[in-house]
Amino acid sequence: MIRSYIRHGVVAVLLLASITVVAQSWQSPSIDPKIEARAQTLLRQMTLNEKLGQLSQIFWYKGAPDDRIQKGELGSYLFLTDPHEINRVQHVAVEQSRLHIPLLIGFDVIHGFRTIFPVPIAQAASWDLDLNREIQSVAAAEASSVGINWAFAPMVDIARDARWGRIVEGSGEDPYLGSQMAVARVQGFQGAVPGSANHILACAKHFAGYGAAVGGRDYDASYLSDTELQNVYLPPFHAAVDAGVACIMSAYMDLNDVPASGNRWLLHDLLRDSWRFQGFVVSDAWAVYSLEAHGMARDAEDAALRGLTAGVNMDMGSDTYLKYVPKLLDEKKVTMQQVDQAVLPLLRAKIELGLFEHPYIDESKVDAALHDPAHLTLARRAAARSAVLLRNENTQLPLSKRVSSIAVIGPLADAHQELQGSWSFGGDPKDVVTILDGVRANLGSGVAIHYAVGTTVKREDQANLDPDRLAQSAASTAPQEPDAEIAKAVAAAKASEQVILVLGELDSMSGEYASRASLTLPGKQQLLLESVAATGKPITLVLVNGRPLDITWASTHIPAILEVWFPGTQGGNAVADLLFGDANPAGKLPVTWPRNVGQEPLYYNRNLTQVHEDDPKFASYYWDEPQFPLFRFGYGLSYSSFAISDLKLSSATMESRGIDVTVEVKNTSDRNGDEVVQLYTHQRYGSASRPSRELKGFQRLNLAPGETKTVLLHLTLADLSFWSPATHQRATEASTYDVWVGDSSVATNHAQFDVTATRVQP
Ligand code: NOJ
Repeated sequence: MIRSYIRHGVVAVLLLASITVVAQSWQSPSIDPKIEARAQTLLRQMTLNEKLGQLSQIFWYKGAPDDRIQKGELGSYLFLTDPHEINRVQHVAVEQSRLHIPLLIGFDVIHGFRTIFPVPIAQAASWDLDLNREIQSVAAAEASSVGINWAFAPMVDIARDARWGRIVEGSGEDPYLGSQMAVARVQGFQGAVPGSANHILACAKHFAGYGAAVGGRDYDASYLSDTELQNVYLPPFHAAVDAGVACIMSAYMDLNDVPASGNRWLLHDLLRDSWRFQGFVVSDAWAVYSLEAHGMARDAEDAALRGLTAGVNMDMGSDTYLKYVPKLLDEKKVTMQQVDQAVLPLLRAKIELGLFEHPYIDESKVDAALHDPAHLTLARRAAARSAVLLRNENTQLPLSKRVSSIAVIGPLADAHQELQGSWSFGGDPKDVVTILDGVRANLGSGVAIHYAVGTTVKREDQANLDPDRLAQSAASTAPQEPDAEIAKAVAAAKASEQVILVLGELDSMSGEYASRASLTLPGKQQLLLESVAATGKPITLVLVNGRPLDITWASTHIPAILEVWFPGTQGGNAVADLLFGDANPAGKLPVTWPRNVGQEPLYYNRNLTQVHEDDPKFASYYWDEPQFPLFRFGYGLSYSSFAISDLKLSSATMESRGIDVTVEVKNTSDRNGDEVVQLYTHQRYGSASRPSRELKGFQRLNLAPGETKTVLLHLTLADLSFWSPATHQRATEASTYDVWVGDSSVATNHAQFDVTATRVQP
């Protein structure tokens, strides 16, 4: 098992060896003594069952046992969203329980509550931290208006494999981008401090390594080396902790054979001892109980013992603590002090939230909070800023509004729920502006719009789970009937000047329990695409999806491709804004886009490997696929064009104050637009191999036509630090470093600098 960050003794020894310590880049959050005193006073009055109640969260749909709340035996509900009912249960908790402790009401506020924003991976594609902060802040305002006070978000799992369905819920493959997004999102949910008005608690999940599930199969075990864990999968969690996240959710799966929700090294040694996390840990749903299924716990009682002693404060869903901890105490397997240690952070969280002072919501204000027009404006802006223009041959886009006819085709063109994406339970599909709606509204009645669904897609039809159906289709030799829907789509295309083809995945095809073995366009969509393309009409492919899909054919046959992800409530308006030039795409890919599913897991920040003279066959690639992905990490086009030049460093050596990196960015087009300037580094030599490139800074900026701006990105010693498997410590090593700045991970402006002494990070 990996060793935790270097502790003081080792640092001292290294100091003697003339190695200096990098100034701590984060502050240990301290506990307000008044809050602590209040929590302790409350704790002293609690009976055992009241304490265990605080450690228990149950699903609302399991029923509303008021007597349990009255007895103080419930700390939290999840999946309760009705404001009236939330008020009612809070009244029971506050007025009818002995110690008047209000409930935490938790919910998956993943990308909005009532107003559904683009899915998290799309938000990450905006590379816009302010936007991410603003979105979670609006989501928090809507959720808190109904009485929800805790979001099970952000998901900060790194995902390097597009087969994993939950790639849609995070910020993609990069630890730096993921950490920046984690901080912005925590700040957005929680406000300046936990307890800020109209804000809610955030919960960084799923601790840790969930995104590395073997084969991209959801819930499967993760096997991560120390270096991958420390340098890739943990940084976004550490960043969230440093940003003051109130809660961490422990993951379902085995991490190097120890289930994450029973993993004391992870939940205690690393999280609390090394990172000084002061908040509370909630298990993922039934994850404590599931320790038995993993083969770690002997039975449910043993699961409770292992979950509690590993460091899970609150058991989500399975009530094992309430059921078994009294016996475990009797048998002296746990101590009252351990129980108290688990309860305290939960009491502190409720006090910090101001829940004791304001347990109820004003039901008369809910409607206005959920239907604020400003939220829709933000949702439209967010969807436009999250889109990534993947291809635009001969500047096909933006489309002219002066057309007489346009075909809008595809199973996702007039889709409502599907545009919201997974985890959108608070949204109403009826509110969704579909892409067809958006195109109609944008063009007005003067343009004939020919709509055709082309084909329908169902997850059940794609799922190869039913053995009978599998046997049937294997036995079927009947020739394929000509497809009537595709024929109608072809006719619609033929009758139109331009074609907008909207293809991709249903909301249910990505998210939890939505991993895929293939990345092809589900159903007959590829056939539809090729049939419509055969008309020779100019086609723009709009992709609605939560992961990179196999569009290798489209990438050479379809001139314009716009990735809009699951764009949310205002998706259709935003897509129309982009297609017709009212908005200018500037999103960049937060994931490497494979040519072929067989390349997965695929990511840009790989180590270099041996190069055998001039013989390319010794490079790391498959002989039956080009070596490179279809689209690189950080890639994305715009209707504007930019030139990035004059890379300058403030110094040729980096000392403790860091280095300023500047470039000139010019908008070389006649259209206002945004560029995302990206900075990558590479350590040339040291105690271990380092990735060929690593993102270490970025900035999205707006430029008027012809305008030039200087972009300054500051690089610190801490930015260059990594955990070395050779030294078992985090340090910035003495070495020569390359810097590249540009518009994607293939940035070409290059400079270099040195770090002359190794600095150990505490
Ligand atoms: C299971 C999911 O893994 C987690 O992300 C979610 O927050 C909980 N269920 C609660 O819905």
